[in-house]
Amino acid sequence: MLPEHMTDWHSHLLPGLDDGAATVEEALEMALILSKAGFRQVCCTPHCIRGSYDATGGQVRAAVHSLQGELDAAGIDIRLRPGREHYLDEFLPDYLGTDPLTLGDSRYFLLEIPSTQDPEYVKQACYRIRIKGFIPVIAHPERCSLLSPPRPKPVQGSGFKVQNSRFGRLLRRLTGSNRLRHASASDASPAAPHTSPLLDYLVEIGGQFQGNIGSLAGIYGEIPERRSRRYLAAGLYTLYGSDAHSPLTLETWLGEGLALLPGAEES
Ligand SMILES: [Fe+2]
Repeated sequence: MLPEHMTDWHSHLLPGLDDGAATVEEALEMALILSKAGFRQVCCTPHCIRGSYDATGGQVRAAVHSLQGELDAAGIDIRLRPGREHYLDEFLPDYLGTDPLTLGDSRYFLLEIPSTQDPEYVKQACYRIRIKGFIPVIAHPERCSLLSPPRPKPVQGSGFKVQNSRFGRLLRRLTGSNRLRHASASDASPAAPHTSPLLDYLVEIGGQFQGNIGSLAGIYGEIPERRSRRYLAAGLYTLYGSDAHSPLTLETWLGEGLALLPGAEES
């Protein structure tokens, strides 16, 4: 069985549906790079943002079918699966109610949380996804500042409440640390615990977390890179994705990021 990370759970491979691949040729170039990196299954997850990217579930499935034909003709050994990267805004309940599209027809519902969203609304939306029978999969949590700890206040004594939170306990168990260090925590600090009440809630309701391989390689900058390495070390990620939008530099950073994943040495 292939390692779990050899499924790419998040990509923008389908040409013309969003800001990803612009042409079939570009999509084939990206698919070839993913194939050479070891991926055998790729979820195609165009953005779903009302008014900007409005492909329906049916259109995504048709595009997957069409591109699969191109891959097969080109001899690229990858199975494409349908999906969508749902933007968590006020329109999300509409998609959830009328046209939900999960990752490869699993129960995973890929969700992008804007850093400007109200955390209470995020909680309600994710709970609603659970009630609907799906599992919210948070796309690249390392890029969402809502999931990071609030800026620290000076503390005395035993420290933040996070130490006793569910994610805090998970982090301690996984890192073997008896006490999270955070008195001077910030996003850029090596000591940051990297949890928040919202992240804790999402763990609590069974949410899953998809890390971007490019974040591990540092393509979004220092802060997402540090967060992603902490999340990786803490065992937060259960799924990985390229989030590839273009073939430019894809091969380079994909290799760098994949080398950091568990089991990379055997694959
Ligand atoms: Fe994406």
